[in-house]
Amino acid sequence: MKKVYIETLGCQMNKSDAERIFAILAHFGYVATDEACEADFLIINTCSIRALSEEKAFSRLGVWGKWKKNKRLKVALCGCLAQHTEEDLLTRFPYLDLVFGTQNIYELPDLLKRINAGERVCAVRENIVAEGDFGFNRSKGVNAWLPIIEGCDNFCTYCIVPYTRGRERSRPFDKIVAEARDIVAQGFREITLLGQNVDSYGKDLSGKPTLADLIREINKIEGDFRIRFTTSYPTDITDDLIDAVANSDKVCNYFHIPMQSGNSEILKAMNRRYNRKKYGEIVAKIRARIPDVVITSDFIVGFPGEDEAQFLDTVSALEEFGISYSNIAAYSPRPKTPAAKWVEKFVDENEKARRFQILNDKVKEISLRNHKACVGKTMEVLVDGENINKGGKFIGRTGCNKIVHISNGTDIKIGDFIDLKIASASTWHLKS
Ligand code: SAH
Ligand code: SF4
Ligand code: F3S
Repeated sequence: MKKVYIETLGCQMNKSDAERIFAILAHFGYVATDEACEADFLIINTCSIRALSEEKAFSRLGVWGKWKKNKRLKVALCGCLAQHTEEDLLTRFPYLDLVFGTQNIYELPDLLKRINAGERVCAVRENIVAEGDFGFNRSKGVNAWLPIIEGCDNFCTYCIVPYTRGRERSRPFDKIVAEARDIVAQGFREITLLGQNVDSYGKDLSGKPTLADLIREINKIEGDFRIRFTTSYPTDITDDLIDAVANSDKVCNYFHIPMQSGNSEILKAMNRRYNRKKYGEIVAKIRARIPDVVITSDFIVGFPGEDEAQFLDTVSALEEFGISYSNIAAYSPRPKTPAAKWVEKFVDENEKARRFQILNDKVKEISLRNHKACVGKTMEVLVDGENINKGGKFIGRTGCNKIVHISNGTDIKIGDFIDLKIASASTWHLKS
């Protein structure tokens, strides 16, 4: 029996891809291991969203290359870096046996045969290899990732994803619903519908089903579970989707809506299809329909040409639109993207770091304030793990994704939904 280890960098879509890869490899007799040093087959599943993400992959590869001198090993690189790079990775890394792109996962049965026969292979294609029936070997836990749409057609000027994931492709409606049923039957307590733009779902399918339709259908499945979806593109959020979220009891009242910048000129330069006012209107519409909704976001600081006033528009947007939490990234020029060519407008690295710090402090301040407002309230928490720093105690998450450290109760177990009174709060978590 051969052991395979996959190190996954990047977003939930990459995590979900790893679960597809595990399923295919299991079919060919591989078992998964959590210990890289025990594996016969090492795979690095890469992310390209920032230069740093790619550097992480290269440094990990370097370590594995050294291991290979003393052990019979196969080493592969897959994911977003594999898909977009024009560099000959097999030449750069002589110990690499296999490179395969995000669109080539279902070629693995053939690729495995070839590398096991001693060939070194690079399989990266533009035309997608059709999805097979291998399914997903989902990692154990309470949450199951369920991809519904892959790829992106938006071409924001900073973003590499359209080049690493290709054009938008929705997965068949009935197949997703069947998978959701299966996920619930397996005992998962949370389904997260995944896509670079989940709210574009179905535009390319016959009958044009929507994310709202999908939510309503999955909500009908019997059982105790939550439904989440991520990521939403602001202007693709329809009234029908907001209604579906409001009316479906299993769907968390939670929207992750990346704004990217609080300044309309920068949004235009980013090729985002909304301005500050429009984003505010969308958020207000959701709040009017779902008063207790929690909205989180993503922002980029130091986009080419961003001046101090424009940056301050981002800082004020967090407060103005009531954004509970946001991921923040310093702009990183990516190959093939238009913004990477605007070198004369690049913001100095130290300045980007300063803006990052200021915005991060703002996110922390807001998070602490929101968390303090939860003290004394009773919230439904899904117990999803053990608190490794506090042996024997559990942690969980509320419907709006707040982390709760559970101090009371000895008769609880992972997967339970429990109502807890919040006793105290800190920046990144609540305590019962
Ligand atoms: N589809 C989602 C985002 C996917 S990428 C959306 O439209 O918002 C995840 C996040 O990475 C983005 O929201 C953005 O904030 C960040 N990101 C993307 N490209 C980046 C770049 N070149 N530099 C820094 N951050 C970037
Ligand atoms: Fe990237 Fe924009 Fe597509 Fe999001 S919508 S994945 S930021 S190109
Ligand atoms: Fe990274 Fe690819 Fe996801 S670039 S963020 S792993 S889609």
